[in-house]
Amino acid sequence: MKAEVGVCQCRKQSLIEDARKEKEASVLPAPEPQEVNNGDLGEEDNGTTLNLMFTVRSPSTSSLKAILKILEKNETYVFHMETRPAVKNKKKEDLECYLKCFIPNSSINIFIHSLKKVAGDVKVLKDELSHSFPKKVQDLDMYQQHLIVKFEPHFDQDHPGYGDQEYKKRRAYFAELAFTYKDRDALPRVDYTAEETATWKQVYKSLSTLYPNYACKQYLDAFQQLEKYCGFTENSIPQLQDVSNFLKERTGFKLRPAAGLLSARDFLACLAFRVFPTTQYLRHPSTVMHSPEPDCCHELLGHIPMLADKEFAQFSQDIGLASLGASEEDIQQLATLYWFTIEFGLCKQNESIRAYGAGLLSSYGELKYALSNKPELRPFDPEITAVQPYEDNCFQPVYFVSESFDDSKAKFRQYALKMKKLFSLRYDPLTCSVEVLDSIQKVQTALSQIKDELNTLCFALDKMCKI
Ligand SMILES: [Fe+2]
Repeated sequence: MKAEVGVCQCRKQSLIEDARKEKEASVLPAPEPQEVNNGDLGEEDNGTTLNLMFTVRSPSTSSLKAILKILEKNETYVFHMETRPAVKNKKKEDLECYLKCFIPNSSINIFIHSLKKVAGDVKVLKDELSHSFPKKVQDLDMYQQHLIVKFEPHFDQDHPGYGDQEYKKRRAYFAELAFTYKDRDALPRVDYTAEETATWKQVYKSLSTLYPNYACKQYLDAFQQLEKYCGFTENSIPQLQDVSNFLKERTGFKLRPAAGLLSARDFLACLAFRVFPTTQYLRHPSTVMHSPEPDCCHELLGHIPMLADKEFAQFSQDIGLASLGASEEDIQQLATLYWFTIEFGLCKQNESIRAYGAGLLSSYGELKYALSNKPELRPFDPEITAVQPYEDNCFQPVYFVSESFDDSKAKFRQYALKMKKLFSLRYDPLTCSVEVLDSIQKVQTALSQIKDELNTLCFALDKMCKI
């Protein structure tokens, strides 16, 4: 029955599928010969793999067309092309472009010469560019541009709101709120309509009957607090600013409005800074118990209570930190891990098993199914979980059970150490920024800060022991 399908099926498709497609795009075979090495210039007998950065000034259709024409004319084979808004000393509308391509040796000079005519700052990189990533929380304003729009009511003919102009207008309003939001802004307050509040009420009422018997203790504790202090009630939809304040006080997590589904890389990057992208729109009123994409019922009832738990918050941030600068292959695995834990995770609790995943806790049907004896339950093991195939548009045949969040965190950290990243990162909670540990001095400074903190803790412990 469709009403019983998890409310977040499309995030499964988007987050993991999106990551998978990115990975496939990055490993497309070169033209004959198929094997291309990534050396400094990746020179082969008949061609070279080039990694280039350049700026497209005031991009227009004609300037982009000119670049594509040059690529075509020089018989290049494009492996990867990525644009970001230009960051330093450039005009706001400029785009920085990273291009990895294979080009016949005889065409290299002409190709670069031609490119310099239509683009600025053309640089040939020695190595393949690792993906750029936000270094501080304010940078997220620039890294929230990649939306997956294929499941939105404007584009997906199967979306229940596809033919509803009023609903699409309302969705455009919510999208605009998110697009114009900057990290330092207050979160937009929304006047929800009576119809939207009625949708919320129905979802809230039906799900909250299940929680006492299905949700984990951490969820239940936080839910109680949210009802007491944060306006969680069936009669009104909580405002993101109030919820964000609530989380900030407990775990340092804060919310930012999301216009829709973000790409896996951009979504996971937010977690690194203890930021949770949250949609504010509601599902279409014709399908109250089902949404083809995450809406605010899913975010508020599924995700928010767990983000108030310190161990869970740290686990979430660890996945985010591991994603910064990760390869496409690793992003796909991290998105899968995210999926089977933060969205669809189960955990041991005393003698029973309870749900902590938001996809379960916001889906009446799948919550009951996951804790019936029908699906297979396996212990959480990042190496196995990260490559577990998932099902589209139906309940998962397999769920993973965590011993505890502390245990999952420790296992995940071991897993992350094996990732093929060329650098280590450290998060600074005081400045909400990440530091790339690429010099001995940086590591020594970090160690000295940790030593100071350890001394304080040892001193406190010592004092207690003497009493
Ligand atoms: Fe979700």
